[in-house]
Amino acid sequence: MINDRLWREGAGAFKVFRMSHPPAPAARVSPSTARNRDPILDVLRPRMPASGLVLEVAAGAGEHAVYFAGAFPALQWRPTDPDAEALASIAAWSQQAGLGNLLPPLSLDAAQPDTWPVKRADAIVTINMIHISPWSATAGLMAGAARALPPGGGLFLYGPFIESDVPTAPSNIAFDLSLRQRNPQWGIRRLEDLTALGAAQGLTLSERIAMPANNLVLVFRKDRAPAAAG
Ligand SMILES: C[S@@+](CC[C@H](N)C(=O)[O-])C[C@H]1O[C@@H](n2cnc3c(N)ncnc32)[C@H](O)[C@@H]1O
Repeated sequence: MINDRLWREGAGAFKVFRMSHPPAPAARVSPSTARNRDPILDVLRPRMPASGLVLEVAAGAGEHAVYFAGAFPALQWRPTDPDAEALASIAAWSQQAGLGNLLPPLSLDAAQPDTWPVKRADAIVTINMIHISPWSATAGLMAGAARALPPGGGLFLYGPFIESDVPTAPSNIAFDLSLRQRNPQWGIRRLEDLTALGAAQGLTLSERIAMPANNLVLVFRKDRAPAAAG
């Protein structure tokens, strides 16, 4: 079983497996995934629900989906992305991995929460989308997450963010500039803007976790409904 083998033998086995089973041509490789998947997994491991469905928004190449589905065999992992080439890449990696809990990729545009093909999720994971998409994608992500998550359910955001009380790393200042040059609607977002956006949707920032290379994981949790009076 690939699933068992990967997670008994660890990431080293994953690399060997990948070398001995070249991916289908559609499968893309994101160099950053090899660097960030284990630190992200360390954050997710104690915070994922014991069972249920995880919705991954902006799954990109699909390597995170394979890695995390392998790490959480008790969870159903649903990768999504609006980009056709990304969906083909996710499907190629998924086919190669053969994990029973990795669901087929679906087209999902975070900016259009009314059209999300997934209406309910026990957790939502979004890696490196918020700064590489218009603000409407983040607004839609928050709105869609507020609808899809159960009370207490987590929305996990990974990427670079700007914080008013923390000096911005020079590398992130340069990265922000390069993003805005590529697309004026892109750019590293301010944590306070995200917090306000979440609060308006009933999502409260519950954790800010520092990650390597000046990234953060932000955990927003869906507010629990106030207890009924009397
Ligand atoms: C830099 S890639 C990150 C992919 C992957 N999560 C990773 O870390 O390798 C950004 C991804 O965001 C996706 N994306 C852009 N706009 C989006 C939107 N409105 N809704 C959902 N995903 C979006 C892109 O298609 C792309 O796959």
